[in-house]
Amino acid sequence: MGTSSDRTHTRAVVVTGGGTGIGRAAARAFAERGDRVLVVGRSEPTLMETAVAHPLILPLVADVREPSAPEAIVSAALEHLGGLDVLVNNAATASFADLRGVDHESVRAQVETNLVGPILLTQKALKALETARGVVVNVGSAGALGLRSLAGNAVYGATKAALDHLTRTWAVELADKGIRVVGIAPGLIDTGVGVRAGMTREAYGGFLAEMTKRIPSGRVGGPEEVGDWIVRLTEPEASYVNGTVVTVDGGLSVT
Ligand SMILES: NC(=O)c1ccc[n+]([C@@H]2O[C@H](COP(=O)([O-])OP(=O)(O)OC[C@H]3O[C@@H](n4cnc5c(N)ncnc54)[C@H](OP(=O)(O)O)[C@@H]3O)[C@@H](O)[C@H]2O)c1
Repeated sequence: MGTSSDRTHTRAVVVTGGGTGIGRAAARAFAERGDRVLVVGRSEPTLMETAVAHPLILPLVADVREPSAPEAIVSAALEHLGGLDVLVNNAATASFADLRGVDHESVRAQVETNLVGPILLTQKALKALETARGVVVNVGSAGALGLRSLAGNAVYGATKAALDHLTRTWAVELADKGIRVVGIAPGLIDTGVGVRAGMTREAYGGFLAEMTKRIPSGRVGGPEEVGDWIVRLTEPEASYVNGTVVTVDGGLSVT
């Protein structure tokens, strides 16, 4: 196996939440460059769909909230991919509610999926990532950057702001092990996530249309536009990018 600084080197990649949306697009983009990819999620059919026509993509059914998940995911990567060069912490869940409307279970689901999951999985992956001098990519959200607020979605936004903090801190903690840690902050990307978060299709369509008016680029993004940047951030050309969060949002967060 070569090193991660070799452009032609193909890597062993884990993408959580790889059955849909941005995770699927990233998994396929990794596979298209020749990387071996483990896609992780709770729903086998969607993972299988990601892998269709991509022999380098392997599905693994696992719930990142389960305490056994980190060991299962890292073991599967070592056994089936031969190592772990890139970990993409992408799985997440969102529930729309303001402070009066939040309930305990939705808070737990968001914190455990979006924050505790990445922490424990990255911790379990450290040894393999150190061996590979690998890269961690944390998928945050442009809506939770810097001093922004995310009205009606504060708990989700708080998990993403915290994930950005982990990105910065882990980059410092792990630099001497040769591990890079970067974040990516997608803006409004049409993945159907609003419907999965409980909106009707009509309401999600209306939300996208309304938000589009505020996006300087004048359109909603596609999952491939984020997936490609996830891959680029893991390439040798990005080896000096560390501890930062790259925004891919058509300019929305600067308005
Ligand atoms: N779309 C946007 O506009 C947008 C904007 C900003 C940030 N993001 C971020 O981008 C990432 C991808 O979002 P997306 O839009 O592609 O959403 P998505 O299609 O809903 O993807 C989330 C994925 O996470 C998986 N997942 C959820 N809970 C899980 C769990 N407990 N264990 C394992 N897998 C789990 C889901 O699969 P299962 O349900 O089958 O497990 C799903 O495949 C997320 O981190 C999201 O917060 C998206």
